[in-house]
Amino acid sequence: MQVLKLPSATTAASAAADLVVDTLGRIAAPVLGLPTGRTAVPLYEALVARHRAGQADFARAVTFNLDEFAGLAADHPGSYHTFMREHLFEHVNLAPDRTHLLRGRVKDWRAEMARYERRLADLGGLDLAILGIGLNGHIAFNEPAPALIARTHRARLAPSTRRANAASGFNHRWQEVPTHALSMGIGTILSARRVILLATGAHKASIVARALTGPVTTRVPASLLQVHPDVVVVLDRAAATRLPRRSPALRSRGAGTPAAD
Ligand code: GLP
Repeated sequence: MQVLKLPSATTAASAAADLVVDTLGRIAAPVLGLPTGRTAVPLYEALVARHRAGQADFARAVTFNLDEFAGLAADHPGSYHTFMREHLFEHVNLAPDRTHLLRGRVKDWRAEMARYERRLADLGGLDLAILGIGLNGHIAFNEPAPALIARTHRARLAPSTRRANAASGFNHRWQEVPTHALSMGIGTILSARRVILLATGAHKASIVARALTGPVTTRVPASLLQVHPDVVVVLDRAAATRLPRRSPALRSRGAGTPAAD
C-alpha cells in the first residue's frame, strides 16, 4: 500500500484528483468506480475544476457508482443519484449512458444487481475504484460482518451508518435513512486494477489505522484492501495521526504522485 499524507482535506482531495486525472489520461476508455459521502465532495470539486481548466476529459470514461439506498427514487434528495448529479455529472462531459448507478427503487433488485455486474464485466471490470471509508470500516455498503458477500448485493445498514448518512438529504433524521442499500460487493471492488482510498478528518484516524495496519478481517471490510496489489491511500494529516510511524506494509510519502515500483 502506498500512503500519501497531505496537510489538509483540500490538498488530499487534490492529490486524489491528480490520480484520477492520471487514469483518465492513461487509459483509453477508463472504467471508474465512484464513491459518495462528504469525503468525496472536495474530490469532485477538484475534478470539476480540472475539467473546467481543460485538464480532465471524461468523454471516454464509464462510471459505476458503488452503492445506492434501497427504496429511494433517483430524485430523492438523499439518493446517491442526486448526489452524483449535483457534485459531478452536471459539471463534466460524461454522457448519461456512460454513468451507471444501481436503481434503489426497482422491484426486482436481484435482476438489477445481476444486470449491474454483467454490464461491468462486459466492460472489463473497474480500472480504478475510488473509495471512502465508513467509521466502522465499511467500503461502499459492505458493512462489518462475520462474512462478506463478494458480488453486488442488498445490504442491511448498521444503525451507525444510517446516522452518519442522515445529514445528506434526510434532514438529520436518521430514521428516514433507508435500512438497506444495494452495494457493489467486496470481490467486485477488489477486482479493480487500482484502488484509491480517500479519508480525511480526525474522526477517521482510528479506523484508518485499523484498516491499514490491523488484521485483515471482515469485521473491518476496508482491511481487505491490504491484500490488493495496487492501493493508494490518500489521507490528510488528521486522518493519519494514528498510523504507526514505520510499518513494513505501508510506503508513506508526503505529497505528490506516488512513485511507481
Ligand atoms: C457512506 C458510503 C460510503 C462512503 C462512506 C464514508 O455510507 N456508502 O461509500 O465511503 O459512507 O462517508 P463520508 O465520506 O461521508 O464519511
